[in-house]
Amino acid sequence: MPTTAPAARTLASLPGPRPVPLLGNLAGVSMDSLHLHLEGLVREYGPLYRFHLGPEPALVVARSDLNAEILRDRPDGWSRLLSMQRVINEIGGEGVFSAEGSDWRRQRKLVMSAFDPAHLKRYFPTLVRVTEQLRLCLDEASRSGEPLDLQALLTHYTVDVTAGLAFGIEMNTLREPDQALQGHLDKVFPMLMRRIFAPVPWWRYIRLPSDREFDRHLARVHEAGHRFIAAARERMAQDPALHEQPRNLLEALLAARDEAGGALADRELLGNVLTVLLAGEDTTANTLGWTLHLLHAHRAEWDRLVAQVDATLAPDQDMPRSFDIARGFGAIEDCVNEAMRLKPVAPLALFEANRDVSVGGVALGKGAKLIMLTRPGAVSTDVADDAAQFRPQRWRAPASEADHTLTKASMPFGAGPRLCPGRYLAMLEMKMVLATIARNYELLSVSTADGTPPQERTAFTMFPVGLRIRVAMRPKAC
Ligand code: HEM
Repeated sequence: MPTTAPAARTLASLPGPRPVPLLGNLAGVSMDSLHLHLEGLVREYGPLYRFHLGPEPALVVARSDLNAEILRDRPDGWSRLLSMQRVINEIGGEGVFSAEGSDWRRQRKLVMSAFDPAHLKRYFPTLVRVTEQLRLCLDEASRSGEPLDLQALLTHYTVDVTAGLAFGIEMNTLREPDQALQGHLDKVFPMLMRRIFAPVPWWRYIRLPSDREFDRHLARVHEAGHRFIAAARERMAQDPALHEQPRNLLEALLAARDEAGGALADRELLGNVLTVLLAGEDTTANTLGWTLHLLHAHRAEWDRLVAQVDATLAPDQDMPRSFDIARGFGAIEDCVNEAMRLKPVAPLALFEANRDVSVGGVALGKGAKLIMLTRPGAVSTDVADDAAQFRPQRWRAPASEADHTLTKASMPFGAGPRLCPGRYLAMLEMKMVLATIARNYELLSVSTADGTPPQERTAFTMFPVGLRIRVAMRPKAC
């Protein structure tokens, strides 16, 4: 059970905004800033309140102790919100993220093994190759002095890395942006967000122009997924040893047999390709964007990071060229962790109770909906006055009790059995990018065009709006 406290309250008795018919509390709320709206209500109603997602009430939880209990009580106690699973499955994304129960257990094992550190070590050369392409883009920008669209640059990078590592496909969207996969992926998230929160599933009855446009983009993403699968099948037909020793996630999924000897169905294969593409792209790119922005605003932290990179890399090295060096860089990890605490790219998560349950003393029936807010507990000024400030040192031992409370409350990769399987890859990518920038360039600016603070927007993941990066070549070190 998620909590030992006696269930003294009902959901209906909790405070919360007054709902209107059909739309509930979603009336007038912009989906791309829903997380900010819900966080604002925490200040009004406290960390447990009622919020109507359309006609149905949901429990909003913004307490990190309860969040951790709920996340750990899966897959048995809680599922991802059913309407979210349906929307994801409808677009062909039927993979490990939307699976539940025994289906999830089977798929999770395969996905985990493809992203464990031992596997990542084998794929490290791919990461170096993609980072070299990123360097070419930054070199050009430093010569021209022109700002680069940071979000576009970083999502090209993460798509190229994911396609290489997970599917064995060498893509170079960084240098050949007309390989437009990433442009199509970009259109998927905002529509998913609209559909998950729609009080009426209009797209099942009528196709609006926006649905038809979405269908066109989705069809291109599916085409790419089918191409990746066909290429992997071909490689495995040519080299049957790959069935025993698959080299990437896709080959592992193709080689997989369950206990009865059955293979994954085609829709599960495509679903996992889409899941990994979508899960691996924006999350890492957005986190990198926020980290670079915060580091530029905190020069002393950036200088500390540069000093560690200079002290670690050999004089003639322009980037980490071995896996063991790349996964070091404690100073970078502290900065990324601190950026994720302040700017978690998954600030809300949606669940449904699989059985009657009590959360923080609130009784919920089977099927009850729950909205988890992941940030408030990790930035609470009740814990420390400087909780809202960027201070990477708080991640270094020995930490004060307050810093320990804040860092423990930060769960950017989730928690429990469904903890993000891509976290090692994400951290490795972020270390490669930050170390390479630190080693080669001065950060002239990482800001919006008019210098105002970047706004937070959510399109499934939370991203900074309009960040541009300007760099200059560093004078040769040593
Ligand atoms: C900074 C980067 C990333 C962040 C912040 C992040 C965050 C998350 C979060 C919050 C979840 C939900 C966890 C839960 O339910 O407890 C998740 C799940 C997942 N992530 Fe990540 N992620 C990142 C990068 C990646 C990458 C690079 C990949 C793969 C290429 C990936 C693949 C997945 C998958 C497949 C799941 C579903 C796991 C499951 O349901 O069992 N993620 N991620």
